[in-house]
Amino acid sequence: MATTAERTVSEIAIENPASARVFESLGIDYCCGGKIPLRDACFKANVSPESVLRLLDNLKEAVGQTEPEKWVNAPFSELTAHIVSEHHDYVRSDGPRLLALLQKVKARHEWVHPEATTINDIFAALYQELCIHMLKEEQVLFPYLNSMDAAVRAGNAVPPAFFGSVRNPIERMLADHNDAGHSMARISTLSSGYQTPPDGCPTFRALYHGLAEFESNLHRHVHLENNILFPRALEMEKPGK
Ligand SMILES: [Fe+2]
Ligand SMILES: [Fe+2]
Repeated sequence: MATTAERTVSEIAIENPASARVFESLGIDYCCGGKIPLRDACFKANVSPESVLRLLDNLKEAVGQTEPEKWVNAPFSELTAHIVSEHHDYVRSDGPRLLALLQKVKARHEWVHPEATTINDIFAALYQELCIHMLKEEQVLFPYLNSMDAAVRAGNAVPPAFFGSVRNPIERMLADHNDAGHSMARISTLSSGYQTPPDGCPTFRALYHGLAEFESNLHRHVHLENNILFPRALEMEKPGK
């Protein structure tokens, strides 16, 4: 389908995964806030829809006809395993590394750069919340979603769950994703878009580089859950499916 400014940002990101790079570079939210038309998202990000459409077209020319998101039809067991290995494991390994860098930067620079302390506090709270969130997904929600998908593929009914409708845990996860997105957006603003200050040491640079990567990984992670995994599960639960 042609890419127009009336289509939602998340639809474009699902159809053409490479577009996420364009959206990231322009500050257009394609995960938590991606369910709005591209035209409205451009207005929020203060960029012209025409220029974004041109960038998306150039992207298609540069990489050829792009493949649609491969997870749209994949079994949930594969998709959830991918989310855990590419995103949950990344949070668990990079979170503590970034917290250690934050401690060093805070100790050396907080008199001149008080934002380092605020960023540390926001990131420490976010990391803790993400660890709890990921555990809920890995121990409760993902195993249920995998069994739900396996049952439907075998032609059976969706299995019952102790939490009732799958919409209940999904709504809690969506709220957590929103909070996480806001925390990283605040860190991005406080760090002026992860720009190392002129007096910043190499540790400062490594920290901001790592935080920018962490935000980008979180966006891809939330995109897979909010825009692909969860809508597919909600659709599966509809009567008559
Ligand atoms: Fe997750
Ligand atoms: Fe999640």
